[in-house]
Amino acid sequence: MALGSFGMAQSVKGTRDLLGNEMKWFQRIEDTARRIFHRHGYEEIRTPILEEIDVFKRSVGESSDIVNKEMYDFVDKGGRHVVMRPENTAGVVRAMIQHKLLATSDPRLLYYIGPQFRYERMQAGRYRQFWQIGAESFGVATPESEAESLVMLFDFLNELGLRHLKLSINSVGTPESRPAFQAAFRAFFEARQEAFCGDCHRRIAQNPLRVLDCKVPGCQTALEGHPRITDHLDEASRAHHARLKVLLEALGVPYEENPRLVRGLDYYTRTAFEVLSADLGAQSALLGGGRYDGLVSHLDGPPTPAFGWAIGLDRLASLMQQLHGDAPAPRPALLIPLGEAAALEAMALARKWWAEGCAVQVDTRGQGLKKALQTANRLGFARALILGDGEREQGVVAVKDLAAGTQETWPLDQVAQRLSTV
Ligand code: HAM
Repeated sequence: MALGSFGMAQSVKGTRDLLGNEMKWFQRIEDTARRIFHRHGYEEIRTPILEEIDVFKRSVGESSDIVNKEMYDFVDKGGRHVVMRPENTAGVVRAMIQHKLLATSDPRLLYYIGPQFRYERMQAGRYRQFWQIGAESFGVATPESEAESLVMLFDFLNELGLRHLKLSINSVGTPESRPAFQAAFRAFFEARQEAFCGDCHRRIAQNPLRVLDCKVPGCQTALEGHPRITDHLDEASRAHHARLKVLLEALGVPYEENPRLVRGLDYYTRTAFEVLSADLGAQSALLGGGRYDGLVSHLDGPPTPAFGWAIGLDRLASLMQQLHGDAPAPRPALLIPLGEAAALEAMALARKWWAEGCAVQVDTRGQGLKKALQTANRLGFARALILGDGEREQGVVAVKDLAAGTQETWPLDQVAQRLSTV
């Protein structure tokens, strides 16, 4: 049967191909991330896209939207209930436990770059397959470790030329201190319950913190004057929060406190934070993270404090495009041989130059000079290197600067040092 009878295939709704400028920004961002994270001692980890469903149910939480409504889960041919990961923190923790990397109390610093999957309602900046760059640090419970991770994050964002980002922080306390807040919050809720939406009535029973996060404007108004988690913290969490703020101030990382910030995942303890950008429109969250001291032991690992964050790479690339326009791309030279003998010599020369790290492409189409130059212009090459019989006899190439329209002659043995290296 002809394939055409089904019509032209399209990418699945909510997924997209990364190409052209967007792909160039992705590469640029990923290269910058790796360079900066390695400086801080972080090592890369890649975990599988498929995980058992329990990994997320037990970590992100049964009451979260991610687990409740948004998982790409299915039963595989062997009868296993698996999920295409909606986020990477739980998978990294699972891997750390499985490979016994938390057996000692030594700190472990890890980062990842990869696709995540959430069956969400489509909107600008929100996809069903999206990419995250994340960093997780295991083994250190201090506010200093959080400040270190946040400094790395902001060094990275500054290196990309991003400014005017808003860092919002809060403390969501610990499972031990939360009941005191929850009792005060329930009393507040009950006194004005008719003002809250149906979802909030369900949330107050399941996970009261989530009410603070409700996007319905009426609920946000009804929350005016709500009890703050930070006013119901145990002494150690209060000191932790205060110390983090001192460190951020001293290190020049501007932040603001947001008492309604609770995050959509259940595993956080104490510090929770988000970075927003006004340039992102409706989906303004560029990244989020926080401390999750209970997660490793909850997934049956040795009790291990941890802290981390993940950036939405799709959103970051879109910001870069808005701010800086098209991604700068190395524009290699096009080597144009004229005739069969020149074609063979051109291939041999290019191999030598590649070995020396030069960026050059060979025109292998065997077309005339005029057409070859048109191609070079259309594809945006900076230079054309022309190798005809005359040049071969003299051991040179004619070099045309395609933007300026000027031409000069380079001896073959000087080409490598004059071409840009990549
Ligand atoms: P999250 O807030 O769910 O946190 O996601 C982090 C970032 O991923 C968001 O701020 C956003 O930029 C991006 N993102 C999320 N969903 C989508 C989507 N549908 N389309 C495009 N971008 C999206 C986490 O995932 C935690 N694992 C972060 C973390 C790491 N906490 C501790 N360590």
